[in-house]
Amino acid sequence: MPNPLANKRIILGITGGIAVYKAATICSRLVQAGAQVDVVMTASAQQFITPTTFQALTHRRVYTDMFDIPSGENIPHITLADEADLLIIAPATANTLAKLAHGLADNLLTAIALATPALMLIAPAMETDMWQHPATQANFGILKRWTNKINFIGPATGRLASGAQGLGRMVEAEEVVNQAQHLLAQQGDLAGLRVVITAGGTREAIDPVRFVSNHSSGKMGYALATTARDRGARVTLISTVALPEPFGLDIVRVNSAAEMLNAVLSHSNQADTLIMAAAVADFRPKTVAEQKIKKVAETEGLTLEMVRNPDILAEVAAQKERGFGPRITVGFAAETENLMANAQSKLARKKLNFIAANNVSATDAGFAVDTNRVTLLFANGTIEELPLMSKVAVADIIWDKVKQL
Ligand code: C5P
Repeated sequence: MPNPLANKRIILGITGGIAVYKAATICSRLVQAGAQVDVVMTASAQQFITPTTFQALTHRRVYTDMFDIPSGENIPHITLADEADLLIIAPATANTLAKLAHGLADNLLTAIALATPALMLIAPAMETDMWQHPATQANFGILKRWTNKINFIGPATGRLASGAQGLGRMVEAEEVVNQAQHLLAQQGDLAGLRVVITAGGTREAIDPVRFVSNHSSGKMGYALATTARDRGARVTLISTVALPEPFGLDIVRVNSAAEMLNAVLSHSNQADTLIMAAAVADFRPKTVAEQKIKKVAETEGLTLEMVRNPDILAEVAAQKERGFGPRITVGFAAETENLMANAQSKLARKKLNFIAANNVSATDAGFAVDTNRVTLLFANGTIEELPLMSKVAVADIIWDKVKQL
């Protein structure tokens, strides 16, 4: 599944505030993500930065004038507006917000905004007093209530053009691009699906400073979470690992299997699908020492007594029998021997729709690497062996299967 920005038609509307310098980064990122970006600048935006910058970034003509129509071309505000998937206005000045709120169309950008059926993403940028002015707040309120096609991002608090600190600063370019990606993803094939995914190895405390764990990196779970997000699903990621937090996910941090069980039961109740990509410890120390265990001179070793952890998927299956929980459950089987037999028995025991089996003794698949080689075993007996591929590609295939189910 390509990035949701790929091949999308995006109009980047730029109005006249000092935050225009961020618009160049936004433009560059959108182009790099594969979007076709048409830049429209107001006259005051051109006082800060020239169209040449954006022409170089997009390799496309930059639109500045409603009446500058090369012969043989259509009127730009009609064609651009019709063909766009998304109109971003960043930065959006108080003046432009006022025009949008009242349906004025006195320049190319405001005319496009009035004519387009596309989604809109507006990033206001102005001094605090201008933002807090009752007129601006009223205009903001009108635009927000109008239609759910209009989305705002920011303003943020920080350094303003005047040098003062305050509310009104435009959010960073990356946030605008992430939000644009998120809005376009909502038109994806998993739109409306609510999913819960677990990732990473659980940590079972021995004492306040030590734990028992495993080599799971969380990469497969994160790949499942970001691909589902990019296809429009609402994702809760229950994670034990401190990987950089992907945007647009609800992240729940847990350590132990017991914590993961609680998080899974409470979040998966409202979900359609649960994918347990986490490597949950089967055993935990029977007691957790209150203080750090010290080495005493005369003792040679330490014996830990371990007890069984709850089986999360089995608990979910039990809940399902009582009429709660996700409709579809998917598990992973990480094995070093007898892979298929073990996976078959887990599929049945945990009452899964399907299971992804992988041999974690391979060096190019399984724990900590970016590739995986999995075999999918379905409840109806079908078996599908996938070749070595990236974890993101595996994740996409798993979502295709969930969708079919
Ligand atoms: O039983 P086993 O641990 O081998 O099964 C693996 C699958 O079950 C994985 O999807 C894992 O996340 C899940 N699991 C679980 N609760 C456990 C252990 C594993 O849900 N206590």
